[in-house]
Amino acid sequence: MPTMAVIGAQWGDEGKGKIVDFLAAEADVVVRFQGGNNAGHSVKVGEELYKMHHLPSGIIRAGKLAVIGNGVVIDPGVLLDEINNLTRRGKSVKNLRISERAHVIMPYHRLLDGAEERLRKSARVGTTGRGIGPAYSDKVSRLGIRMGDLADESALKERLELLIPIKNKMLRAFGTKEVVDAKTATAELIEQGRLLKPYITDTGAILDTALSKDKKILFEGAQGTMLDIDHGTYPFVTSSTTTSGNVASGSGIRPTALGEVFGVTKAYTTRVGAGPFPSEIHDELHDRIVEMGNEYGTTTGRSRRCGWLDLVALRYANSLNDFSSLAMTKIDVLGGLDEVKVCTHYRLDGKKLTRIPSDLKAMERCRPAYESFEGWDELGPARLKSVLCGGFTRLPKSLREYVRFIERESGVPVSLLGLGRRRRELLDLRRKRW
Ligand code: IMP
Repeated sequence: MPTMAVIGAQWGDEGKGKIVDFLAAEADVVVRFQGGNNAGHSVKVGEELYKMHHLPSGIIRAGKLAVIGNGVVIDPGVLLDEINNLTRRGKSVKNLRISERAHVIMPYHRLLDGAEERLRKSARVGTTGRGIGPAYSDKVSRLGIRMGDLADESALKERLELLIPIKNKMLRAFGTKEVVDAKTATAELIEQGRLLKPYITDTGAILDTALSKDKKILFEGAQGTMLDIDHGTYPFVTSSTTTSGNVASGSGIRPTALGEVFGVTKAYTTRVGAGPFPSEIHDELHDRIVEMGNEYGTTTGRSRRCGWLDLVALRYANSLNDFSSLAMTKIDVLGGLDEVKVCTHYRLDGKKLTRIPSDLKAMERCRPAYESFEGWDELGPARLKSVLCGGFTRLPKSLREYVRFIERESGVPVSLLGLGRRRRELLDLRRKRW
């Protein structure tokens, strides 16, 4: 089956954008199927850095169809800014297609996101503040507005007349001073719908046709497995299903049409926002990894929490996603350390735990058990060049042992290694191209 999904195996920020950009070279279509502009995918091409929140990372490769599927929630203002930004930089977006079934993030969703976070007090999720949770809640409560409505002025006005007063009542009840001005919001949304209309269509039909013609379709996951609304560390999760099971419902293809699943993991772990993180590092090494790895959110600029690679989470991610192979990113960040650790299991009340517990309180009490590895030297430009030309055997021995250990323990082959920020600094170990 010529379809492949790229899924985050951790708490997001695994470097999926870079992997999608790389694999997109071989694809015909690149599809986002969940999440919204809480995602931030960065791709560095030469000296140019592209940061995408809504647009599939494949959009910067000419000639690919870029699809925003029905499972995504869209902030039309943000999407238009992104489109304008790309066109200003000489990139074409004529191949963009947006699902008429995707839901719109409304101005009141952003306000409600902030209000709900304040009400949660010390139990704050630490959301990106982009209105993601309230937009998905409205979708499920059948109070949403879809992209098809946005492009239809009379349908939009009718929905807004019903919804804005309800949402303003909620905002007031939540103690928020700022509410939505119906007149301004309506005018703005009508204009956004007008500008986006040329891209809005039945993307499920497009994908169905692409499948029937054996086109290569790449599905770009956002966030990561541990942030999945059902399987993640609830309630410290995002509001969508981030695992491979959602590729079908979030894009409209049939479930049996998904071929391979690429899991993306960093060589270590990061997470943004609150919630349990057993392998988190609490000493000065933490700050070093933040600096070396530039661990600041693409969307919010927040500094990320850093820890060792967690095999309990990785095995769990594999059991949920069925990874065909792994891409391990940011290996260079750990270069120069004397020792590198991997969390192999947790210990809880004297017992060994090898699966993520659903009880958050239990997870907070889990203590990590580590396997220790000799570190590897930083790969200078000459060594990096030799590795990229000569392959895996040119890597430092201790790094090879680290990678082999992770393959054995996770049961998944590692077939892409991220050795630097640039597009070409990926070591491709795949036996066959897509
Ligand atoms: P929300 O998706 O904005 O509602 O945020 C819920 C949780 O998911 C928070 O802990 C966020 O930090 C986290 N989150 C959402 N999107 C991303 C992402 O793209 N990378 C990493 N964490 C994310």
